Formats: sequence, structure tokens, C-alpha cells
Amino acid sequence: MKTIGVLTSGGDAPGMNAAIRAVVRAGIYNNIKVMGIERGYNGLINGNIKEMNLSSVADIIHRGGTVLKTARCEEFKTEEGRKKALNVLKVFGIEGLVVIGGDGSFTGAQKLSEAGIKTIGIPGTIDNDLAYTDYTIGFDTALNTVLDAITKIRDTSASHGRANIVEVMGRHCGDIALYAGLAGGAESVIVPEEEFSIDDVCRKLIQGRSRGKLHSIIMLAEGIGGNAFELGKEIEEVTGIETKVTVLGHIQRGGNPSAFDRILASKLGAKAVSLLIEGKSGRVVGMKDHKIIDMDIHEALSMERQFDKETYKLTKILSI
Ligand code: F6P
Repeated sequence: MKTIGVLTSGGDAPGMNAAIRAVVRAGIYNNIKVMGIERGYNGLINGNIKEMNLSSVADIIHRGGTVLKTARCEEFKTEEGRKKALNVLKVFGIEGLVVIGGDGSFTGAQKLSEAGIKTIGIPGTIDNDLAYTDYTIGFDTALNTVLDAITKIRDTSASHGRANIVEVMGRHCGDIALYAGLAGGAESVIVPEEEFSIDDVCRKLIQGRSRGKLHSIIMLAEGIGGNAFELGKEIEEVTGIETKVTVLGHIQRGGNPSAFDRILASKLGAKAVSLLIEGKSGRVVGMKDHKIIDMDIHEALSMERQFDKETYKLTKILSI
């Protein structure tokens, strides 16, 4: 393999830069030309492609965002859009492609591999919603960002004797809410994977208050689909405890990647390049039981995610 391309697609995630760096450096180390494709599949369709060298990935391992920029591309979902992309890959002599992104980006990668382009997917999303891997790049950093926010909210919550609902991202996956809830000592964790009862949430608040507790944190995953502010009003009405709402939003997608995310991204980037050198295609890389793995992309995308019920139960036990 002489030339490969790398792109980031979908929502950005801290650690994407470390993954780009690993792909570029591992490629050059193996005498492969690496082309950086800008703004995901948009850039692929429009030919926004430039050769990367050792210096183009210098000083980025610690930076959030993605130096290649990213996009959610509707055109690539069409036959016509993909035809254009295949043409561009041919013109630039790109034989192998590394796609860094979430499940939507992987579906695109799968289509390209079916069309004959050797394609490898690296999981880059804060959501941690891909079933085949224990961790996606960006999740750990987002979790720490949320934890930092909860810790701060807790201070002011205690000063005022309030309850706080903290709404976090994750799309349909409750992992950010779950693990931040456990690490942050939340009173309740509300996730799309588990039924919840507002009475339970209120009962905990009242019990806590009656034993002199000054603050209460309720973690709410956005995937629940409800309105955090309405929930806050309802809780306030039932319990009589003033309830504030903080929607953390895109702050969760920014910031310097954690050590874990940088290490994961570096390993996965290098692994993706090795697979391309071996002539593999239509695979995704990830981490299972602390080991770097690769898997057929169809299989990975058809796997059903198992919610960590044990940890969920633990959050309930520890917040009595
Ligand atoms: O997939 C990452 C993510 O941040 C989700 O958690 C969230 O639902 C979505 O992207 C937000 O997308 P956008 O940045 O396009 O609003």
C-alpha cells in the first residue's frame, strides 16, 4: 500500500487529534504517504485533501477538536455522493482509508469498503455507544469534564440547599450519565436504558433532606428524551426543594484529551495502519478487556450494546 487517507467524521471528540497523529506517524514510519481529508466525507466528496507530514501532526496530541475538521455529511448517504467520493479517492491514488468517528461514520466506511476501498474504522465519539468496544476515544475526557462540572455544581448546591439536575450528552447511550453519576456521588441517575420513576427520585431527595443533606445531584442523560426543565419543576413541586437545571452541552466535547484517551487513540491509530498494511479491509479497531482488537465492520455494527446494569445498580446502592 503506497497511499492512505485519514478523515474525522461526525461529532468531534477529544483524542481525535492523537489518533490522526498516530495514523500519520505510523504511516510515514512504514513509508506510506498519508493524505489528510478535511471535514469528513464532505471533504472526500469535494477533494479537500492534502498530504500530511511529520510536522503537520506535531504539537496536536494534547489538543481537543480535530485538526482535520469534521462534518455530518448528508450527501455521502446518497449513491451519487459516494460515487463522487470514490472518484476522488481514485484521482488522489488513495488505496486505504482510516475513518475516525462514530456509528454513522462507520456506516459510511462500510459502504466504501463494499465498493472496494480498503477501509478501517477508529471509534471516536464521546458517547461510548459502540457495542464492540469497551471504550470510544473521547469518552474518558468527556466523563472527566462532566465530573469536574458536578463537583463545582455540588459546592453551590450545598451552599443554597438546592437540588440540581445535570443533563449530559450521549445520544441514546446513558454511559456518560451513569459513570459520572457514580464518580460524582449523584443521588439519582436517569438513563434511557433503564425505567425510572419520578417518585423514586423525589423520595431520595426528601430522605436526604430529612437527614440533613444539603445538596443533591440528579444525572440526566439526554437520550431520555424528556425536558430537564419540566422535570426540575415537577421535582420542586413534589419535594418543595428548589431544583436548578444545568445542561452541560458542547463543553463535554472540548478540552485536552485525558491520558487514557491519548493512549487509546495512539494505539488504535497505529493498529489501523498495521491492518491496512496487512491488506485488511472493512474492519474496525477497539479495546476489549484492556486489549486492542479488530473486528469485521458489519459484525461490529450489528452488535447490540449491553448496558452496564451492575454499575447502574451500584449507583442505587451507594446513593441510599
Ligand atoms: O455524538 C456526539 C454528540 O455530542 C451527542 O452526544 C449529541 O447528541 C450530538 O453529538 C450533538 O450533535 P451536534 O454537535 O451536531 O449538535
